[in-house]
Amino acid sequence: MSTFATIDNNGPLRLVQVGAGGMGQAWLDTIIANPDVELVGLVDLNTDAAHAALADRGLQGVAVGTSVGEVAAATGAHAVVNVTVPVAHHPVNVEAMFAGLPVLCEKPAAPTVAQALSLAASAEASGQLLMISQSRRYFNSLTQLKAMAGELGDIGVITTEFFKAPHFGGFREEMDHVLLLDMAIHPFDAVRHLTGQDPVSVYCEEFNPPWSWYRADAAATAVFEFAGGLRYVYSGSWCADGKETSWNGSWRVNGARGTALWDGDNAPTAEGLEGAVLDIPVSDGGPEQIAGSLAEFVAAVRSGRVPNGEIHSNVYSLAMVEAAVQSAGTGKRVRIDDVITAAYAQALDAERNAEVKAVLSGWGSPLGALSGASRGVSA
Ligand SMILES: NC(=O)c1ccc[n+]([C@@H]2O[C@H](COP(=O)([O-])OP(=O)(O)OC[C@H]3O[C@@H](n4cnc5c(N)ncnc54)[C@H](O)[C@@H]3O)[C@@H](O)[C@H]2O)c1
Repeated sequence: MSTFATIDNNGPLRLVQVGAGGMGQAWLDTIIANPDVELVGLVDLNTDAAHAALADRGLQGVAVGTSVGEVAAATGAHAVVNVTVPVAHHPVNVEAMFAGLPVLCEKPAAPTVAQALSLAASAEASGQLLMISQSRRYFNSLTQLKAMAGELGDIGVITTEFFKAPHFGGFREEMDHVLLLDMAIHPFDAVRHLTGQDPVSVYCEEFNPPWSWYRADAAATAVFEFAGGLRYVYSGSWCADGKETSWNGSWRVNGARGTALWDGDNAPTAEGLEGAVLDIPVSDGGPEQIAGSLAEFVAAVRSGRVPNGEIHSNVYSLAMVEAAVQSAGTGKRVRIDDVITAAYAQALDAERNAEVKAVLSGWGSPLGALSGASRGVSA
């Protein structure tokens, strides 16, 4: 497990945000609301969008530019929040880390597991923290569900039903694997958080209901097997009108001593065998969603404590998505380790940065390099 540089300045952490699009707006409001951070720069290829986002909020004195390295140097920034589109995550994160800045990056870490491995090696080579913001880990009711699951003994099966009918327009209605690539990483990551385990394999079917308004498959059912036999069954559709679930989906956790249910919005409920202590109070775990990941990032760069979403561990969440897509394409069960091993060969082949390549080569096996981190971060 890599360690990373910490920051012990007095006063708020000076942040440069990269990306002033749809989600970037939400991040700006979250940064403004947190007194432990201060926005000093806003980077976007579209500087008009950056200026407009600042003007909308009455923010003055924030540097604007198109290069994260230049804006960070000009502002004396301490850290970067990356809210660009997924294809820009790798170059922006690498530029920031090698400029000496830790990065909090929106999910997914990168479009491919191979690029995510390159990012993990870049974090080691630069000595900086790269944390992927998996904002759906930060729900107090999920924290409560995790505590309940811990009372249920061995877990046999966890299910998530995700059924919604959004009309996004734009790229989502045109892209391949839209549900798996754009949305399913949230519950896939959440089940790792819930169980503290990483999956072993997946079988997945992807399909497009006849009435779908998406060009490509907008529905999927996946069965993941975990070490020890636990099965996680995800079933979702993005063209499912009527009785929609929450954005977190609807969860069931069944263990040897009982069952817990979570509708994704409200406090979970549970019913168990005699002796199971399931009357767990509502968790007050602090800020939720992206405010929660920002708070954890700040605490991590201050303390050196490895946060949720640290890049080495997060590779497994992305690998769950890539394995599910591969399984849907081949009709076969796919092992997660095989996906990571194949991605490692691709990453070694593609890497052009000599320092990063040396770190990748030094791993020998990617599984060993990732597993220590994965165990240390409660998945
Ligand atoms: N956590 C969540 O619930 C959630 C929800 C929505 C989006 N997201 C994630 O947030 C990220 C951004 O999504 P969005 O909907 O805001 O996209 P968007 O297209 O609305 O905005 C992206 C912005 O990044 C800018 N950009 C692209 N490449 C850049 C580069 N190399 N350097 C600087 N700026 C660059 C674009 O000009 C654009 O303004 C994605 O990774 C997405 O998956 C997360």
